[in-house]
Amino acid sequence: MDFLKDLALPQSLSHITLMHFVLVLVFVLFIPYLGTLIGGSILSVYFNFKSKKEEKSKFSKTAKELIDLPFTNLYLPFVLGILPFFACCLIYAQLLQGTDSISVGLMFFAWLVFIAAVVLLYIYKYKLNLKLLFESLEFEKNSKANDELKRFSQDNFQSYGQMGIFGTIFLLMSVFVFSAGLFNSLDPDLWKSTTTVFHTFIQYEVWIRFIHLLTLSFTITGASQLYFFFFGKENNSKDENSIFIKNYFLRFTLIFALIQPIMIFLDILILPQASLSIAVFTLTVLSILLVFLITHFCYAMIKEAHTKFVTFVFYSILGVFCLLLVKEAYTLRNATNEQSVKLAANFQKYEDELKSKLGINLVVFSGEDLFVGKCSACHRFDLNLTGPAYNSVLPKYLDKKDALVKYILNPVKVDPAFPPMPSQGLKPAEAETVADYLLTTYKGEVDRK
Ligand code: HEC
Repeated sequence: MDFLKDLALPQSLSHITLMHFVLVLVFVLFIPYLGTLIGGSILSVYFNFKSKKEEKSKFSKTAKELIDLPFTNLYLPFVLGILPFFACCLIYAQLLQGTDSISVGLMFFAWLVFIAAVVLLYIYKYKLNLKLLFESLEFEKNSKANDELKRFSQDNFQSYGQMGIFGTIFLLMSVFVFSAGLFNSLDPDLWKSTTTVFHTFIQYEVWIRFIHLLTLSFTITGASQLYFFFFGKENNSKDENSIFIKNYFLRFTLIFALIQPIMIFLDILILPQASLSIAVFTLTVLSILLVFLITHFCYAMIKEAHTKFVTFVFYSILGVFCLLLVKEAYTLRNATNEQSVKLAANFQKYEDELKSKLGINLVVFSGEDLFVGKCSACHRFDLNLTGPAYNSVLPKYLDKKDALVKYILNPVKVDPAFPPMPSQGLKPAEAETVADYLLTTYKGEVDRK
């Protein structure tokens, strides 16, 4: 799938820097959303399964809420999922163009699988919602409507659970390949040694990063369930559902937040040498500190059985995501430093070629060249030809080079004894060079006398 890399445009060093900034933005849009999608779909499928076994409405309600969040409206998976994911592929294609790295191919493949996963999960969400709606409707037993309803349910809700399972499996596949793509971009040695997807299955680093992303996803899923469930609601409501959500997801979030420091630490251990820098370490330490704060607040809420700090916890977890994602962009930048310089050099060459193709002259003419080529047909220093002798007209420009340049660029009528001078079509820089040449030559002649 190298065509993406072929699409990439040559670019200068400043473009590349810009690219890294855009990458951070794209990551910050995409990865937290991806987290709620991963966590939401896995847990929703799990609770849906549980609700079938135990027939408890709190399980099916939770299953619905978990999958509803990433699909709150139809644009969300596009704007925060499919689009930024694709932008990510394009940016990696730009940054890694001309290398042997298979990262871009992996990412593009992951993107296609991701689309399939989103479609399946959307159908799952839709059918789950409809099913719960039907179940909540009450009809008289044995009425005609009831029979119809049963038939409709049987026809339509048979396979929705499988949709959820397949959607989740596709999503996990996509995320694994995506992690592999990210990791394999981080070391110029890996660009050469990793040549197929199958190599990535045996890279333990890819597995660690994959698991890290999963645990992070669970943390944000737990926190976002709490946040959106209790947002603007009475804190101590006593209904079964909210007590369940509170107890379950506070613990859930705490457990996965507690795992984070270990995962973050492992993550930095496995990073290739080429991608490390002080900034990477600093961001890592900051993210671990923030995680400690989060665990502390989660623990406090569990102990006192309230949800006062959910907003803080939710935004702090987003903060951890941001820190880790900026770190990711830094590691990529460190790893591709040399590559960027190469790209910039290529860009210079490309720009030169383009200019000469467009007829923009790159050869810089000296003042003398310009004079001989453009002026000497009508001018000498000591002789009137078509134009006046320079020795007679230059004195008035002696300390006014700017006026001379202006005249050369745009001649106006001066001396009635001569015809007007046609414009010579010089560029400003050239007019300046030739003006310099005329003035110094003239001064030289005056000095000699
Ligand atoms: C086709 C002939 C022709 C060419 C080529 C030409 N000039 Fe002239 N130039 C003239 C004429 C005629 C005048 C007198 C115009 C007037 O007095 O209005 C003149 C006047 C000038 C003057 C005097 C302006 C003044 O304020 O009195 C300068 C300086 C000058 N040219 C510079 C240049 C330079 C530099 C070039 C080359 C880039 C150049 N010319 C090319 C015909 C030419």
